[in-house]
Amino acid sequence: MNLKDKVVAITGGGTGIGAGIARELAMAGAKVTVGGRREAPLKELASSIDSPNPVRTHTIDVADNDSIEAFFQDIRASDGDVDILVNSAGINIAKRTMADMDPDEWDRVLRINATGAYRCIHQVIGAMRDRHDGLIINISSVAGKRAITLGGVVYCASKFAMTAMGTAVANEVRHEGVRITNVYPGEVNTPILDNRPVPVSDEHKESILQPEDIASVVLSICQLPPRACVPEIVIKPTTQEWV
Ligand SMILES: NC(=O)c1ccc[n+]([C@@H]2O[C@H](COP(=O)([O-])OP(=O)(O)OC[C@H]3O[C@@H](n4cnc5c(N)ncnc54)[C@H](OP(=O)(O)O)[C@@H]3O)[C@@H](O)[C@H]2O)c1
Repeated sequence: MNLKDKVVAITGGGTGIGAGIARELAMAGAKVTVGGRREAPLKELASSIDSPNPVRTHTIDVADNDSIEAFFQDIRASDGDVDILVNSAGINIAKRTMADMDPDEWDRVLRINATGAYRCIHQVIGAMRDRHDGLIINISSVAGKRAITLGGVVYCASKFAMTAMGTAVANEVRHEGVRITNVYPGEVNTPILDNRPVPVSDEHKESILQPEDIASVVLSICQLPPRACVPEIVIKPTTQEWV
């Protein structure tokens, strides 16, 4: 699929994996809008990409339904219906074990990582079904396939929710030209690592995946013809264990 002028929305697009994907898709000719809560990283990223269509920015808090509505309304008004949605907005918490975590954090992480992704899909999927065309990329995690200690209780639960939602919706819309891919990255060197209970060394950061590794996989998936769907894909650092 040629990405020229395809309308792309990326939540969590100001930093990390979302930013890497924004760069790849914009350089391939897409009309990309990146969203996140903080305006500064969005603007900084957009100004750093010299793409055929300038990268647009719009703040969004995926925990706030009105904010989600405003984000997608802005894209529709500027560029039209979304062709490709990338759900990359996500958080983890520092105190992640059952013993340590604050129960209120359960609600907060689920609201952002799972409900937020659902609400964003809800914004775009009706028009995708009508047009018999659309692609949704969910940035889940290996913690959305295996309940790993590193991810912690609520992060794993939120990513399993995203995984199940993506698969269930994909089955529902597969005869309507809409494709959904769940991407399960292992460790990636992004700002989310700053919230780890144990600080991550610079040496370790250099040894794991980089955002551009995920972006290159996502670009390939986006370039497939509409008849071809990748339901899920695991990508991990070569050195990371996979059981
Ligand atoms: N790095 C890894 O090892 C790894 C591995 C597997 C999966 N993932 C997943 O990859 C996705 C991207 O994370 P990342 O690693 O690239 O870290 P990141 O740089 O921290 O990216 C997360 C992005 O989400 C945005 N965000 C957080 N809460 C939000 C909210 N309520 N509304 C809108 N945007 C929000 C953040 O921007 P604001 O703070 O400005 O809102 C940030 O740009 C996450 O879903 C994460 O779970 C990461």
